[in-house]
Amino acid sequence: MTYNFDERLPRRGTYSEKWDLGRELFGDPDVLPLWVADMDFRCAPAIVEAVTERAKLGIYGYTSRPNEYLEAITGWLERRHGWNVEASWLTDTPGVVPALGVAVQVLTEPGDRVILQSPVYNPFYDVIRNNGREVAENPLILEDGRYRMDYGHLESLMQGGAKLMLLCSPHNPGGRVWNREELERLGELCLKYGVKVVSDEIHGDLVFPGHRHLPLASLSEALAGITITCAAPSKTFNIPGLATAYTIIPNVAIRKQFAERIKALAIGSLNYFGPSATIAAYTQSEDWLDAVLDYIRANRDFAVAYLLEHLPAAAPVLSEGTYLLWVDCRALGLSKSELKQLMYKEAKIAFTEGSIYGQNGEGFLRINLACPRSLLQEALERFCAAAAARTT
Ligand SMILES: Cc1ncc(COP(=O)(O)O)c(C=O)c1O
Repeated sequence: MTYNFDERLPRRGTYSEKWDLGRELFGDPDVLPLWVADMDFRCAPAIVEAVTERAKLGIYGYTSRPNEYLEAITGWLERRHGWNVEASWLTDTPGVVPALGVAVQVLTEPGDRVILQSPVYNPFYDVIRNNGREVAENPLILEDGRYRMDYGHLESLMQGGAKLMLLCSPHNPGGRVWNREELERLGELCLKYGVKVVSDEIHGDLVFPGHRHLPLASLSEALAGITITCAAPSKTFNIPGLATAYTIIPNVAIRKQFAERIKALAIGSLNYFGPSATIAAYTQSEDWLDAVLDYIRANRDFAVAYLLEHLPAAAPVLSEGTYLLWVDCRALGLSKSELKQLMYKEAKIAFTEGSIYGQNGEGFLRINLACPRSLLQEALERFCAAAAARTT
């Protein structure tokens, strides 16, 4: 089947966080939004059909957890990632971020130190701090346009008593798809120092050819025993509004604690549309995903080439996966507020300003590539023209 990802679908006035909050967030309702990570593409036809059929029933009651749903998830993990997961290891959550929060509560005590690798998806900080834990930061090292982990500093944080590591794999915003050697080295340190891991693998299906996503817990039984993996069909298939995600916890004791906390918080019920959409996604929409990945990779290459030609001071970090492009704009010499002014007021576009991902994200911008190419081009044109106008 062929898909038309070039079509610009009107999303304004649809209660879209991305398209309808321009005035509140950027002071202008007409700003072109390439920030929050949802896609401007229509979902795979099988998903649209499954959700439509379910909507037509007209009664939106409490929803069960059918075997078909669990089998769709385990089948997907086996087919796409070579990971054999038992259905009993799965727990439903209303999102990956809620799962991160619950995992922090279950695996640490107030005051404990939790490691993250900055710059990183901003809710990582929130789930640590808002639960009364402390952030232990292991800044990633940007070298030759690619991020790598700083194992020396990581080990010192573990020696210093950090209890838990929040891993973003693949990494948002740097676009790294961590390879086997990197994950094994990280895993060895965690095992050596008794540090458990919450592995956020929401971007795990969004990986470009030449790279492979390796679920951390699939690498060894020892790692499976210390890891809570958080995943979802939401990022992959553009259904984040359906609030459907899951954790994979092979360790029975941790799983029990996690499930008890979900129960205590009363956040375990499934979204009415979630199982049907997930089944359609994981069993009938693989060709759509492969097609969308091709399109996004071509968007990435287009954006990189465009910036090289029109704004050579901006240095994109070539993503290996995710639909996000992380661009080093430090050579423009603008402060955080000047970058915002440049985007929102002068170019009338919104990429994400990088300092929300950590201090070492300052001077960077994150571009959401999951949009029609003409929209991406328009945003880049406006941004580069506005940047050029500043220097002339
Ligand atoms: C690394 C990462 N985790 C989690 C999420 C969001 O998860 P959810 O909407 O399921 O809470 C995102 C969304 O951008 C993300 O990039």
